[in-house]
Amino acid sequence: MKTVVVYKSISGFTKKYAEWIAQELKVDLLEREKIDVKILLKYDNIIYGGPLHAGGISGVNIIKKILNKFKDKNIIIFTTGASPPKEGILSEVVDGGFSVEEQKQVKFYYFHGGFDFDKLNLKNKILMSLFKWMIQLKREKTLDEKGMLAAYSKPIDFTKKEKIEELVKYVKHLV
Ligand SMILES: Cc1cc2nc3c(=O)[nH]c(=O)nc-3n(C[C@H](O)[C@H](O)[C@H](O)COP(=O)(O)O)c2cc1C
Repeated sequence: MKTVVVYKSISGFTKKYAEWIAQELKVDLLEREKIDVKILLKYDNIIYGGPLHAGGISGVNIIKKILNKFKDKNIIIFTTGASPPKEGILSEVVDGGFSVEEQKQVKFYYFHGGFDFDKLNLKNKILMSLFKWMIQLKREKTLDEKGMLAAYSKPIDFTKKEKIEELVKYVKHLV
């Protein structure tokens, strides 16, 4: 079976996980911006990774074009976020972004990424500055919000190679 890892990454955290997964499985690694659906259709197992942006998986539309139309494909989607991997975080993303039918064809994973303001492009810098401002205005801040504020001045990196183990095991068992 042919497998590919496709990723979109602004500041490098998702890219790191995508590289680890592709190395571990010894499969092709492609950047979302450089491919189209036609290329993806050459593969049986498609692993997509994108950063979590305002609760949605960035760049995942390319996968949505395949879902339900090509039922023979095994689709694995992972997302990375700055939020800790708390219970419910993934189901919120999945339920908010995918229909029940779409969810049946996909295995989802959430990996703790990181945050590096300096590595963001201008558009995302503006969005995240607004977000920072919104947190600052809150009287009572949660621990996560306090951690997020601290990360604006000092980058945080929670990536760890062990976190890919379950996904890798799952893909290795697909026959
Ligand atoms: C515009 C924007 C929105 C974000 N929204 C979320 C979010 O809703 N939840 C979260 O956990 N992290 C959020 N983040 C943080 C990123 O998901 C996190 O830094 C991710 O690991 C970045 O991956 P990348 O380096 O591959 O781009 C956001 C970042 C940006 C720039």
